[in-house]
Amino acid sequence: MIEPTPAGLVVPYNAQSLARAAEQLLAGRLVAFPTETVYGLGADATNSHAVARIFAAKGRPRFNPLIVHLSGLADAVQLAAFDAAARALAATFWPGPLTLVLPALPNSGIADLATAGLDSIAIRVPSHPVARALLAATGRPVAAPSANRSGHVSATTAAHVAADLGTAVTMILDDGPATHGLESSIVDCTSPQPVLLRSGAISRDRIEAVLGQRLRDPMANTDAQPLAPGRLASHYAPNLPIRLDAVAVQAGEALLAFGPAPLPCNGPFSNLSVTGDLVEAAARLFAALRELDASGATGIAAMAIPAHGLGEAIRDRLTRAAAPRT
Ligand code: TXA
Ligand code: MG
Repeated sequence: MIEPTPAGLVVPYNAQSLARAAEQLLAGRLVAFPTETVYGLGADATNSHAVARIFAAKGRPRFNPLIVHLSGLADAVQLAAFDAAARALAATFWPGPLTLVLPALPNSGIADLATAGLDSIAIRVPSHPVARALLAATGRPVAAPSANRSGHVSATTAAHVAADLGTAVTMILDDGPATHGLESSIVDCTSPQPVLLRSGAISRDRIEAVLGQRLRDPMANTDAQPLAPGRLASHYAPNLPIRLDAVAVQAGEALLAFGPAPLPCNGPFSNLSVTGDLVEAAARLFAALRELDASGATGIAAMAIPAHGLGEAIRDRLTRAAAPRT
């Protein structure tokens, strides 16, 4: 059954709706907006709660890294390291449908959850006037995956976004169909020979012509071949061993708690959400892991996290953090 779209959710783009959309983004809410590729589901990339809401809205079972949208190169160099190849690509294709994956600079203010704890960051400078106006009006980096539920096709109209995401999004800025209808091309420039992670609106030929070299293809997504998207090896993983679904804290262990009834613990502990709120827990996850990792404990006992909603992605992240490392 198709649910009717709530009144006021889809709003035609104009000066007034733009101002409201910027206000909502700055308040940590989700706003869908058109880009030249597909509609994006935007959140303030510096606000971990807002970013957590993206994952909840999309129903993503794991924390995939998101593309951070910016106004231009001047903003991008504050967040990432550009080598000559990356500079050439940015100079040629920005603003436009090219995403660059680059080494992330420390202390950039981008929420760990937006990059899924990676040491790289995906950056795109859109050319669509509405996307650009929204970035200018907020003055913030905007994390935005395609505005569809996980596993569904990308949305190219405001009506598609509404049908897919409904009231999980606060507002949908409508400016007609997205131009390309195809996502941005993604090039990983974190190694000397750039890798085409996703083919998209800009063809391989055009990118290779600028680089003066062939693009490599991504390798399989395994630890042994660390260049694929979502690569495990460079995800932040605590140095300390993690015990999942702990029912007691052992001597020397730190506690990663969840909910109003944390396990008794004499050592360091951090509660992901005292109220048992999974969005809050997702927002706090990476910071809590880093904090406990540096606490001097011998290991981390993680209390059980419910497997529904964002709990699934949190559990996935903890499971991978707990997996034996080589
Ligand atoms: O055209 C587009 O790129 C649209 C519009 C809204 O800008 N966005 C989009 O986002 O397609 P999304 O989240 O659906 O796809 C982003 C892709 C994912 O496959 C993700 O794994 C990859 O970018 N990605 C993001 N950060 C990455 C990183 N640091 N390393 C490798 N891959 C990354
Ligand atoms: Mg997508």
